[in-house]
Order: sequence, then C-alpha cells, then structure tokens
Amino acid sequence: MDHTTSKRLVVMTGGTAGLGAHALQRIAAQPHTRVIVGARGTATVPPGVEVIPLDLASLDSVRAFADTVTFQLGEDRIDVLVLNAGMQTSTNEARSAEGYELTFAVNHLAHYLLARLLMPYMADHGRLVITTSETHDPDVTPIAPKALDLQELSLPAKKGFGTGIRAYSASKLCNLLTAQSFATLDEVFVRRISVIAFSPGLTGGTSLGRDSSRARRAFVTLLMRTVFRLVGLFRPEYVMGTAERSGEVLAQVALGDVTPPPGRIYISLVKGQPTFPDPSKLAQSRDAQDRLWRESAAMVDID
Ligand SMILES: NC(=O)c1ccc[n+]([C@@H]2O[C@H](COP(=O)([O-])OP(=O)(O)OC[C@H]3O[C@@H](n4cnc5c(N)ncnc54)[C@H](OP(=O)(O)O)[C@@H]3O)[C@@H](O)[C@H]2O)c1
Repeated sequence: MDHTTSKRLVVMTGGTAGLGAHALQRIAAQPHTRVIVGARGTATVPPGVEVIPLDLASLDSVRAFADTVTFQLGEDRIDVLVLNAGMQTSTNEARSAEGYELTFAVNHLAHYLLARLLMPYMADHGRLVITTSETHDPDVTPIAPKALDLQELSLPAKKGFGTGIRAYSASKLCNLLTAQSFATLDEVFVRRISVIAFSPGLTGGTSLGRDSSRARRAFVTLLMRTVFRLVGLFRPEYVMGTAERSGEVLAQVALGDVTPPPGRIYISLVKGQPTFPDPSKLAQSRDAQDRLWRESAAMVDID
C-alpha cells in the first residue's frame, strides 16, 4: 500500500500500558496512519488514536469490539493487526466471563476469536502480529509446557503455588501455535498476509503481574536483580530489557521494518536485538497447532 496517498490502518490490543504503550506512541506518530485501539476503562492514548471498548476477559466484548471496528471501517481494510495485550497472575484461580481460566482466556482465547473475526477485513499484503513470549519454550524456561493439555489449561483442576506462571507460559505457547496456524491458512497465503509471533523478551518497567500481592512482586523484583542477573551471564534470554526498547521493536515489527527471514514467523528480542530462533518443539507441532485451533473454535463457538 502507498502510504503517501492513502491511510495505513492499524488495529491494536494492549496499547495502553507497558511496552505496548511505547509501541503505540511510535505507530501513532507515523504519517498517514489511522490507529484503533481496543481498551478497557478510561485509556490514555496518544492524540488522534481512536479507542473502542474491549475487555478480553469477555468473549461478548470481543465480538462487540470486532463489530464496531468492522462497522467503522466502511470500505477500508486493516493493514496491521497487533494483538499485544496480556496478563499474568500468581494463581490460575480467576475465571473469564465464560468461566475459562483467565490467563488462557485473555491471552489466547479472546485474541484467537478476534483474529478469526477480523481476518476477512484485513488488507491484502497486511500483517498480523501476535505477542508471545520466550517463556513458552522449556529450553528457556523449565516450567514451560511439554505437552498441550487444553482441558487443564481452560478449566484447571490443579491449584496452588506456581499455577499462575505456568498458565501464563502455556498461554504464550498458545499464541505461538495460533500464529503458526494462521500462517498456514490458504487465505493468508493467497492474500500475502504476513503473520509474525513476537517475543519482546524479559522486559522491565511494565505492569505485567500487577495483580500479584506486594510481597510477591517484591520477591520477583529481587529474583530479577539477583538470580536472573547471574543466569544472564550465561543465558542472554535472562538479560532484562526496557519497555522502551521492546515497544520500539514491536512498532518496527508492526510497521514491517523488522521481518523474519522467508519461511519463518518467530522473532525473539534478546539483549535488545531481534533474533529468529526456532520456537519450541511443541510450538512447531502440527498436531498441537490443529488441536488448539479446533478446540479453541469450539470454545468460542465459531466454525
Ligand atoms: N514484560 C515482559 O517481561 C514480557 C515478556 C514476554 C512477553 N510479554 C508480553 O508482552 C505483552 C505486553 O506485556 P507488558 O509487559 O507490557 O504488560 P502490561 O504493562 O501489563 O500491559 C498489558 C496490556 O494488556 C492490556 N490488557 C490486559 N488485560 C486486558 C483485558 N482483559 N482486556 C483488554 N486489555 C487488557 C492492558 O490494558 P490496561 O491498561 O487496561 O491494563 C495493557 O495495555 C503481553 O502479551 C505479555 O505477555 C511481556
């Protein structure tokens, strides 16, 4: 699309805080660019950015958001869809409006539905960016899932310590599996839509995990300043980046200034630099991708 004569249209979630807010500032500052952000509550966004209510904890809210966006588009099409919103809690006990485990519902299920609903309204040569995390990979984070148990993820029976971070890491695996499924759709291939799964890497200065207790947040900060710093000497994935840099690269990915090599869709920010590693073995499994796609469709009641 020639953006000197017509407007580029960007639709984004997770643009109101953390690294997404930095990305949004950069995207909104581009000339000839219209940006629509889905946000809950009274969101503060850069001037000119349109806000449409969206609470990813409710599938009804996702459908209403998609309806409003498509109505407001008229004949226009979405050039870039950035699904960046995310959350993390200390346990897996909270539930979405439909009764699913909240982290799974917000990070994966709602975004899955939103991407399915908006895909027909994307422009040819458009770009779908889904924010995932290197924590999906057991080679990086030992607690990452080694199998995809959708019953346990959506309606967990296990409770207690560590379930929140495991739910988070599994939801980020779902983001990566979903991105791979979209990338292999005939429709996406024929219309030359790029699909990218972006991991910003360990990023400080965001509000992820804000719902945790003060003691827990203090413990995590201590862990990052001590153990992670030591581990970071050997494993660069544990070196903490800034929200500014992660947001800057998310914006570059969204605007097409950073792209993975042909045939790859995963970008992982490591020590502030985009890298293009293989996702985890499980994330590459065609069986896991297909199962997640099918069972998510059933959960959100879509074909
Ligand atoms: N920080 C890290 O170390 C790290 C590492 C890897 C991946 N990531 C991923 O990066 C993305 C951004 O994370 P962040 O660290 O910048 O977190 P953050 O500061 O907490 O920002 C999260 C964003 O998601 C939105 N959001 C959360 N729940 C929502 C809901 N129910 N409905 C609508 N919007 C909702 C928030 O909106 P409000 O303003 O309304 O809260 C906010 O805009 C996430 O997908 C996260 O998983 C982060």
